[in-house]
Amino acid sequence: MSQQNKRRILVTSALPYANGDIHLGHLVEYLQTDIWVRFQKLRGNDCRYFCADDTHGTAITISAKKKGITEEEFIAGVHKAHTADFAGFGVAFDHYGSTNAPQARGACEEIWRAIRAAGLVIEKEVQQLYDTEAKTFLADRFVKGTCPVCGRPDQYGDNCQCGAVYSPADLVDPISTLSGTKPELRSATHLFVDLEKLHRFLDEWVAGSGALQDEVAHYLQGQFLSDELRPWDISRPAPYFGFEIPDSPGNYWYVWYDAPIGYIGSTRQWCDLTGEDADAWWKDPATEIHHFIGKDITYFHTLFWPAMLKTAGFNLPTKVHIHGFLTVNGEKMSKSRGTFIKARTYLDHLDPSYLRYFFASKTSRRVEDLDLDFDEFETKINADLVGNIVNIASRTAKFARDTGLAETYPDDGGRFAAAASKADEIADAYETRDFTKAIRLILECGYAANKFIEQNAPWTMKKEITALEKAGAPAEEIAAARARLQDSVSVALNLFRQIVVYLSPVLPDLAAKTEELLGEKIASWEDAQKPLTGTAVAEYKYMMTRVPKEEIAKMIEETKAETAAESNADRWNDSGDPLQAEPLAETCTIDDFLKIDLRVGRIIEAEQVKEARKLLKLKISLGGGQTRQVFAGIKAAYKDPEKLIGRLIIFIANLQPRQMKFGLSEGMVVASGPGGEEVFLTFPDEGAKPGQRLH
Ligand code: 2FM
Ligand code: ZN
Repeated sequence: MSQQNKRRILVTSALPYANGDIHLGHLVEYLQTDIWVRFQKLRGNDCRYFCADDTHGTAITISAKKKGITEEEFIAGVHKAHTADFAGFGVAFDHYGSTNAPQARGACEEIWRAIRAAGLVIEKEVQQLYDTEAKTFLADRFVKGTCPVCGRPDQYGDNCQCGAVYSPADLVDPISTLSGTKPELRSATHLFVDLEKLHRFLDEWVAGSGALQDEVAHYLQGQFLSDELRPWDISRPAPYFGFEIPDSPGNYWYVWYDAPIGYIGSTRQWCDLTGEDADAWWKDPATEIHHFIGKDITYFHTLFWPAMLKTAGFNLPTKVHIHGFLTVNGEKMSKSRGTFIKARTYLDHLDPSYLRYFFASKTSRRVEDLDLDFDEFETKINADLVGNIVNIASRTAKFARDTGLAETYPDDGGRFAAAASKADEIADAYETRDFTKAIRLILECGYAANKFIEQNAPWTMKKEITALEKAGAPAEEIAAARARLQDSVSVALNLFRQIVVYLSPVLPDLAAKTEELLGEKIASWEDAQKPLTGTAVAEYKYMMTRVPKEEIAKMIEETKAETAAESNADRWNDSGDPLQAEPLAETCTIDDFLKIDLRVGRIIEAEQVKEARKLLKLKISLGGGQTRQVFAGIKAAYKDPEKLIGRLIIFIANLQPRQMKFGLSEGMVVASGPGGEEVFLTFPDEGAKPGQRLH
């Protein structure tokens, strides 16, 4: 490709929320984007792939609080996990940033100034439920109550199982899910973007830019553009984890304002690292912008986002590629069925190339859901990849080990040329995201190559050579037979490499193994046009194995177990505050632990020490008539010591006795809590006996 034809293409995938793990549903998008980007790079285009964690909003604050860490610490941990998951699947971003970065803030401010200058910001009072204990306004998902329409209890703040949609303020008996208390209605000023002022522009862009699939344009026209566009609420009052709006102190940009701007933020982070010019990527009209997103976030990317870009003088999206959701075995991904599979769990069991290939084979340019049926998955991988493609190399490469590829590419009956002539059609399928078609065309090349191998049967040729050698045939005859074998294997391996070039956007790992086998890089789409000659052939190593069926079952079981553990953690919603208040101590050995003699004891006497503010005097029985006297700082928490008499507790029996003002203290009872009224004795389970040691 000449420099002139080289396109500059900026590509994004939707920014995943930083409050959860990457799962196979996410990967539908990241894998198809990665395949598209790898294809563009192979074509020689200057294509860059940007993404970032979407880090703002109340959900992040709550998750961080649960873990007892700051929001920044929380999103840093998620960033690490997300990056590792994507790398595991070979998703090769040029930059994976964060919406919490200074560059993202700068872009938010720049766009905000433009929106203000264009007179698009309006202020309105909004009534919202406020949790007086958690001291925060409540997003719809953090309120539950009785449906105002059908009376069903325990419904979310915005909609009910009966189908009713309402405002959280309409719920009967609302309860904050954060604190369990009844929230109150408070009024706050919110900032809105007056989208209606851009209605004409959006009408034209949706109908005439060519950026949208037809079905998407029709949906927007029918659902939104046929009416007045409602102002978009883009602020939230403090406290909110995000960026404070510079000219509206105490208000923060709503997460959906800064999420798409994160695309620009991530690009600018990359530019700061590489010295690239950010404006060349976002403001030069020659640069193409391609967004890959799921159908659920169409509105944000096709109305609000172009409106912001237009107002602030950025390039508009060249294309918004919208895909459907993942279903598994024909049904919605389900936690209880074990089909809500995390990227990490998949990687612990199966080869990522399988999923890359499977998803590619099912990706069309339409907004339709993609089904991961595990039987089909297994059949496709085993038949298409192992049985067809990899089979070409696995049954021929060993015959070229000694000779390498022929110096001159042999007459192959036009086979290489026939497959080379499919390059444009395959490229067009990739370009238009019709990966199903690309794969079908590539498989056809594979069938043709396998047919050639069967017709030539190099294994028979090899046997014939051995027979000739044994029989002491003339040297020329043996040499001619060897040349025939080398020729046929050279053809087979070139047909293989040609297919791998076509498949390399989908299967970079297979491409790398092929480079190793044939000693030549796959660097360009044009590599499928010219056969390799005269290169050495390395020892054949397994390129891909059949799907280990039992691993699929294990993965599903493991997912069920993870889900059960998570839902239990959610059920109790344990706060991370205690851990934060007192972080875990350094690791100790079992010997360290055994130095402390913990015993079950029974409280047989308990009384207040009148002169001491904090102390109770306890007599503990260890059984067999052995007793100990202990002074414990639990007076405020156990105001009625009588009630403790008869109870079993945990007792440190070998603590050095300590002479106190009121008598000798011969050990310590085990308790938790910060102190004062919040001290909690530890009681052993039923059946424990005084004197028993804890191990
Ligand atoms: O739907 C989501 O998961 C959002 N985090 C996507 C944001 S995409 C973009 F706008 F950043
Ligand atoms: Zn209802």
